[in-house]
Amino acid sequence: MITIDNIHKSYLMGKEAVPALRGVSLEIAQGEFVCLMGPSGSGKTTLLNIIGGLDEPSRGHITIDGQNLVAMSENELAHLRLHKMGFIFQNYNLLANFTAQENVEAPMVLAKANRKERRQRALTLLEKVGLADRAHHYPSELSGGQQQRVAIARALANHPTILIGDEVTGDLDSETGLAIMRLLASLNAEGMTIVFVTHDARMAEFAQRVIHISDGKLMSDNGKAHDR
Ligand SMILES: Nc1ncnc2c1ncn2[C@@H]1O[C@H](COP(=O)(O)OP(=O)(O)OP(=O)(O)O)[C@@H](O)[C@H]1O
Ligand SMILES: [Mg+2]
Repeated sequence: MITIDNIHKSYLMGKEAVPALRGVSLEIAQGEFVCLMGPSGSGKTTLLNIIGGLDEPSRGHITIDGQNLVAMSENELAHLRLHKMGFIFQNYNLLANFTAQENVEAPMVLAKANRKERRQRALTLLEKVGLADRAHHYPSELSGGQQQRVAIARALANHPTILIGDEVTGDLDSETGLAIMRLLASLNAEGMTIVFVTHDARMAEFAQRVIHISDGKLMSDNGKAHDR
């Protein structure tokens, strides 16, 4: 469902091009649970952002469910991000002045869901992540692990097919981090495609497939062995 074909990405710093990805090719099938690992600066976030339609490659192609991202307009990409992708970040990125429920509703407001539908779905999702009793709490009234669970509920709001996470357990203690990974594993077991980045080998163990990237290139991919 995700096909990445010889992607290069360079960032222009003044007159100098800084290479972040140097010829990455990769296929990710629906329902896979994929972990990206590699040293700082190796291009992990760049690759995630390209998969998520947040950034575009300098060269190469990426298709998601047969749709060519490189050919899409900014509007089409925004539509794809809103409806197909769920994003989770290290620092949760919740809106501070909104309750947990309102944060989960936010993407549904953008998708123009009606109020009743939004409310119901937000409560269902908060229940799913174990926070039914925290719907009216503000982010500052929640623990780090709870905030991340709200962020996961929010990422699921518009029924995405792909969940993308960058260092989602990076700010959490290991017990809480493991609980978040168990939650992601349960979503994967329901069929969600998940691609995440971590530095932590214990978190990587939850994935079925671990891809190592170094200096903008794939170094190893244990998924290759299964002839995908
Ligand atoms: N917006 C940008 N402008 C210029 N250079 C960038 C930009 N974003 C990333 N880079 C460069 O691209 C390379 C890859 O960065 P990237 O953020 O993808 O690394 P990473 O593997 O996610 O690292 P980390 O583990 O530290 O998060 C780095 O050399 C970085 O300096
Ligand atoms: Mg990064």
